[in-house]
Amino acid sequence: MANKKTFYVTTPIYYPTAKPHLGTAYTTIAVDILARWNKLLGKDVFFLTGTDEHGQKLEEAAKLAGQNPKDYVDKLVEDFKNAWKELNIEFNGFIRTTDKEHEEIVKKIIKKIYDSGDLYESDYEGLYCIPCESYWTEKDLVNGKCPSCGREVKAFKEKAYFFKLSKYQDKLLELYKKNPRFIMPESKRNEIISRVKEGLKDISFTRSQFKWGIEFPINKNYVLWVWPDALSNYISALDWPNGKNFKKFWPADCHLVGKDIIWFHCVIWPAMLFSAGIEVPKTIFAHGWWTANGEKMSKSKGNVVDPLELSKKYSLDSFRYFIFRATPFGEDGDFSEKALVDRHNNELANKLGNLVSRVTALAEKYGIEKAENKNKLLGKLKLKEIEKLIDNYEFDKALNLIFEFIDKCNEYVQEKKPWETHDKKILYELIDSIKAIAILLWAFMPETCEKIASNLGFEIKDLKDIGKAIKISKIKKGEILFKKIES
Ligand code: MSP
Repeated sequence: MANKKTFYVTTPIYYPTAKPHLGTAYTTIAVDILARWNKLLGKDVFFLTGTDEHGQKLEEAAKLAGQNPKDYVDKLVEDFKNAWKELNIEFNGFIRTTDKEHEEIVKKIIKKIYDSGDLYESDYEGLYCIPCESYWTEKDLVNGKCPSCGREVKAFKEKAYFFKLSKYQDKLLELYKKNPRFIMPESKRNEIISRVKEGLKDISFTRSQFKWGIEFPINKNYVLWVWPDALSNYISALDWPNGKNFKKFWPADCHLVGKDIIWFHCVIWPAMLFSAGIEVPKTIFAHGWWTANGEKMSKSKGNVVDPLELSKKYSLDSFRYFIFRATPFGEDGDFSEKALVDRHNNELANKLGNLVSRVTALAEKYGIEKAENKNKLLGKLKLKEIEKLIDNYEFDKALNLIFEFIDKCNEYVQEKKPWETHDKKILYELIDSIKAIAILLWAFMPETCEKIASNLGFEIKDLKDIGKAIKISKIKKGEILFKKIES
């Protein structure tokens, strides 16, 4: 058999200083959706996530907690792993930047960059935002504050090793031009192109005022700046340069990130890879940011949306569904619990839940009998369009089309009245169509779809099974999928 196609998809690695919240859950669930979807397409999928554990911000947080940084992060990392488990995230690899293997590989990457003549020692003078671990200049600031997070920046002066980012300006612009899918969506691509065209400055790659980082392999007086350390996770986790997984999965199909960190991923990371002579990833997709009831989420405002609390209060799948249906992926969204409850009631309980419970109850009672479906009810499913939309990261539109089909199925029930006719062939068409719905929604709502599949007597394995008629088996009605919520 020919080798299976591969699909390598990553989340950013998270700073374990904040508990998982709506923002980090959003990125992680999106990657879970892509990973599951590509499994259905028959690909060999590798889904990587992890934690970004070095840097000044972490050192300061540990100090504040009265602990050494490693003990401090060890506990927090468990919170992340548990949260992802509760959100039904099926990752294959979890990397920590304090893993010895990672640290060794990062040193090798830095040496390669040095050997290319792209690192030199000079004086750095400028501003630094510790929460974002980012360098800024006066002209970047907005109202005197960090343009990314709005917090105070610190001025400092130190000796540093600089990475020759400026050298790669033309090569980067050529990459963006040649490969329109390198930065997605288009609005972000245009933004990066115009910023790179304004000119690139060399960037400091080392810090010397604290110790909590990977030792800079060229000069022991420095630690490596946290960003090149963190970005390297995408290949250290594959055991670059000779690992089996590196050969199999690199270049990554998609680094999924939030819009605040695209500069690092779309400019610094490919320039590092150019310098080290490594292929660049295929796509960096940047999603938008969530606000909560119109306001930026922050610990101090106490309005941080907790994904675990919400998924316990309603249902995990209602939460997973809502965040991808409510806002176009790639654009900003505003989270409101009321909107979640409305969609849970109107779409999940009334449309999907109702269809499944009515049809399975009738099929359990009267049975089903094989009938043509492809050119009938199932023919109304816009499968090719849905596939294209997901390939283009347009999750909300794909869900719209799947729900359009659910509407068609509900209308069909009304029109054919199987509760009066007991028509087993009509019930077969409906069951076969529900099978298609369960396969299509599985990436978004795995638990619900697996329940449906088990009541219908099939397993969700392959998108192609949509085109194969469902085998007749005893249909079970099963429990109610989504209980209505009184507001
Ligand atoms: N450690 C870096 C990433 C290094 S990757 C080589 C980092 N970590 S983070 O924990 O601060 O953030 C991780 C992700 O969470 C980012 O993609 C960010 O966009 C996302 N979000 C954080 N808050 C968010 C919202 N309010 N809304 C949507 N996503 C948000 O950055």
